[in-house]
Amino acid sequence: MVITGSIKKIRAISRRRAKPGKIIGFVPTMGALHEGHLSLIKRARKECDFLIASIFINPTQFGAGEDYKHYPGNPAKDKKQLKKEGVDLLFLPNTNTMYPPGGASVYAYENNLSRVLCGKSRPGHFKGVCTILVKLFNIIKPDIAYFGQKDYQQALIVKKLVKDFNFPIRIRVLPVIREQDNLAMSSRNDYLKGQARKDSLCLYGALSFAVKLIKAGERNPKKIINQMKQLVKSRKLAKIDYIEIVDAESLKKIKRLKGRVLIALAVYIKRVRLIDNVILNVKK
Ligand code: PAF
Repeated sequence: MVITGSIKKIRAISRRRAKPGKIIGFVPTMGALHEGHLSLIKRARKECDFLIASIFINPTQFGAGEDYKHYPGNPAKDKKQLKKEGVDLLFLPNTNTMYPPGGASVYAYENNLSRVLCGKSRPGHFKGVCTILVKLFNIIKPDIAYFGQKDYQQALIVKKLVKDFNFPIRIRVLPVIREQDNLAMSSRNDYLKGQARKDSLCLYGALSFAVKLIKAGERNPKKIINQMKQLVKSRKLAKIDYIEIVDAESLKKIKRLKGRVLIALAVYIKRVRLIDNVILNVKK
């Protein structure tokens, strides 16, 4: 596995590799890799001729008071795992490379998808995500880029970004990978210890409860959300950021469940913000 932080080197390698019919795959990450990331890498390895991963903790997608300075990281372990999974090239830039002094730090790409759910409670977050991804897509020029469904809203926005700016990139979104007790894998899970780890199970608990209610015939989103809220509130360390049921394509609120719906929630367990979701195809 080649490791570089140089844009020039990445470009030279990509140019050599981008032969007709050869597929370049890309898995962007912020490091602290877990099984969720590895599921993307494994799938990309199967589907692509040349596989590039990146590790960059992107400062522009963190708001004031968020955990940028303390974001978990273990570069040595990450490198080992990526090498083991057969990644060909690891792009490991520093902040000056991605945001050279004097340039704008964030570019204003916003739309209806980025103002709701996580975009509402983390203003500017998706501008930062889109800014870094435009940069990475321009540097790496992948044919396919891989994202996880845990960040469903992010994946939807990236699909729109790629379409709006005519990037010739296919976006693959792969299922949420969970711990044995069903907590969605996240780099932030490392922060959770003792009671906090126990209380973190309320996210999946609330989602499963919602699915059960829907299977039993409930179609009123307000009623389902209220019951989910009660369940989360019963956990001492949990504080709800949002619980929403929306149309899975437009992310707009719905009055009655029908078709493809997204049930999504963000909950603070002490100071750790966790997200999770499920997508359901609801018949009348
Ligand atoms: O999902 C993430 O880890 C980040 O938002 C991404 C896509 C790597 C951009 O920094």
